Amino acid sequence: MRIRKTSVLFTSALAASLALTACGGSGNGAGGDGGNDADAAGGGSDGKVMRLALNQTEDHPSYIALDNFGQALADEAEGWGIDVYPNEQLGAQAEALQLVSDGSVEMAIVSGAQLENLNEDFTVYNLPKVFEDVDHQMDVVNNPDELTQDLFASLEEGSKITVLGAFTQGSRSVYTSFGPVESTEDLAGKKMRVQESALNISIAEALGASATPMAYGELYTGLQSKVVDAAENNEVSYYTQKHFEVAPYWTYTNHVVGLDYLIINSDVLSSMDDDTRAAFDAGWEQAWKEHTELWAEATQEAIDGAKEGGATFTEIDSPEFDEALTKIAEEYISNENQQALYDQARGN
Ligand code: GCU
Repeated sequence: MRIRKTSVLFTSALAASLALTACGGSGNGAGGDGGNDADAAGGGSDGKVMRLALNQTEDHPSYIALDNFGQALADEAEGWGIDVYPNEQLGAQAEALQLVSDGSVEMAIVSGAQLENLNEDFTVYNLPKVFEDVDHQMDVVNNPDELTQDLFASLEEGSKITVLGAFTQGSRSVYTSFGPVESTEDLAGKKMRVQESALNISIAEALGASATPMAYGELYTGLQSKVVDAAENNEVSYYTQKHFEVAPYWTYTNHVVGLDYLIINSDVLSSMDDDTRAAFDAGWEQAWKEHTELWAEATQEAIDGAKEGGATFTEIDSPEFDEALTKIAEEYISNENQQALYDQARGN
């Protein structure tokens, strides 16, 4: 797997955990949902029941849409199916990326932050203010033009990973255990958990905090034990991961509209015959559309649920944050391809 310079920090600790994770998986048919029909039949000789690593709970829109995707594929393509393993059962996202690359796990959902570490051009779609809204974002990544298609194929040669498209992560904001944040001063000296990428470290720093990269599944305990004082995410994760219990102050910084990419081992994808591939593509289209529909509803439920659990949500208007985030977007476009991807996304 070819890893670029920026990723060394985030991938060097992987090796030790990989062997364990690869052995520790519960194997075909033992996914969180007990498997779909193809799986129950053990898979046909020509098909494959693929394992998909996910770090969300079973009530998250991603799990629901992917589980339906697996069922649709099993119905249409004999012997094929998808078993979704939720809650980091197959490892946190950095491990899942490696496992898909080496073929020990067939598919995963990984945040854009993880792909930045393999090809810095993915950074463009993770920048503050690149997408107007979720519909704009879904159109760019799920109806890809040639430039985006090349980006999605760019990991095949070095890492055997094909990117198929993405779910929205919605808009991400900051939450803390100590109070709302309206200025960089409020976050000065505070530790904010971030996803493992250089851009995410810069975003936390632009907001005034010091950044602590950490896997998603470790964050509840991190907040509870005060290893970190703050984090940032969408409302759905805030609620489904129960972070509101240990960090009840949400502030709408809306610093990024994030993406969760669907990735697959390139050899597995190319082993599909034409009919299977057509069923697979149709299933995925159905899945991201269903996910987008579920998202708005799940966001509202998350806000209501977190409020019932004692969380407060604060709206802010912070020119200081806006300015700092705009600067980051400029700093992180450092090559021609990134500029072209940015211009294309912005419709320039
Ligand atoms: C969101 C996103 C995940 C990501 C997580 C994180 O929940 O959907 O893919 O891993 O944020 O902050 O790590």
